[in-house]
Amino acid sequence: MEILPPTDYNIRRAGEALAQGRLVAIPTETVYGLGANAFDPRAVARVFEAKNRPSFDPLIVHVHEQAMVEEVAFVPSQKVRLLMARLWPGPLTLILPKRTELPDIVTSDLPSVAVRLPANEIAQAVIRAAGLPIAAPSANPFGYLSPTRAEHVARMLGDRVDFIVDGGPCPIGVESTVLDATREPFTVLRPGGMPVEAIEELVGAVEIIDRRVAKPTSPGQLPSHYAPRTPLYLYARGALAGLRPRGRAAALLFEPESLEALEASGSAAAFAATRVLAPNGTALEAAAALFAVLHELDAGGFDAIYAERLPDAGLGRAVNDRLYKASEK
Ligand code: TXA
Ligand code: MG
Repeated sequence: MEILPPTDYNIRRAGEALAQGRLVAIPTETVYGLGANAFDPRAVARVFEAKNRPSFDPLIVHVHEQAMVEEVAFVPSQKVRLLMARLWPGPLTLILPKRTELPDIVTSDLPSVAVRLPANEIAQAVIRAAGLPIAAPSANPFGYLSPTRAEHVARMLGDRVDFIVDGGPCPIGVESTVLDATREPFTVLRPGGMPVEAIEELVGAVEIIDRRVAKPTSPGQLPSHYAPRTPLYLYARGALAGLRPRGRAAALLFEPESLEALEASGSAAAFAATRVLAPNGTALEAAAALFAVLHELDAGGFDAIYAERLPDAGLGRAVNDRLYKASEK
């Protein structure tokens, strides 16, 4: 494994490596992806192997321009075109009808394919250099925390990846919103970096699958996912104040007011560590910091992490989804 700074030379190398069937981790605006040539079934098989990912969990195909979508999928309606025109590049993954030319291993034999155009110039440049659509799941072992920095990828995947293109920390920090555009109404399978509100403004009301009651139709809806090894207990916003944690515990708080409330209640001292995700109290900051803080706490030897929920709107929905999936049920 080699970590490459994003110079023009290295971007060419990364593109060539992908075209030759090798695995390259690329930065995106959401999280780092573990990329492979989507048209090379052996390279895609290596992605599943590197992640220890079950073969029933399909991958997202990444493109560097809208025209490339047509190589792997059909664009079924004006509504879908509108979403692409207005929200791409960006953290929105669209489920579309698949072309038969795309190997079935990418989509786990589904008749649909997930596609997205990431808003990260390095990612776009690497895909352009490869000249191919790139299948890329998040670059973490299956079920574990997603990587938002090159060093997270290096630590988690080591020599299972050939190159890591280092684009610095991912600004959004949670994965893309996955929207199933093959059914009416359009349905959010995974809340993520694109707020549901922004989608509804363009195409009207969408359905949101409730992860707590729905049977998973997409593996991103598995109840346990994105999880640290340390047990994580999830509480309502503000509910950590007054709580007595067991063992050597860390408190994961949304905003400075939460920390003040914890201190005022006298329970701050009972925690071995406290972390505030959003110094200015925005869900955007919380999303950007979430996985890096969880990686750090998971390496900190704590017995437990106690976390509070965010307000359930905008990116808060995506953060709450990740916290819920990371938590003990
Ligand atoms: O932000 C992101 O989306 C990142 C970056 C690297 O682009 N990628 C990512 O990929 O999160 P992954 O593989 O970790 O998550 C893809 C999600 C999974 O929940 C998968 O089940 C779902 O998309 N998915 C993929 N293809 C699908 C399909 N045809 N139908 C339904 N769900 C699908
Ligand atoms: Mg993932």
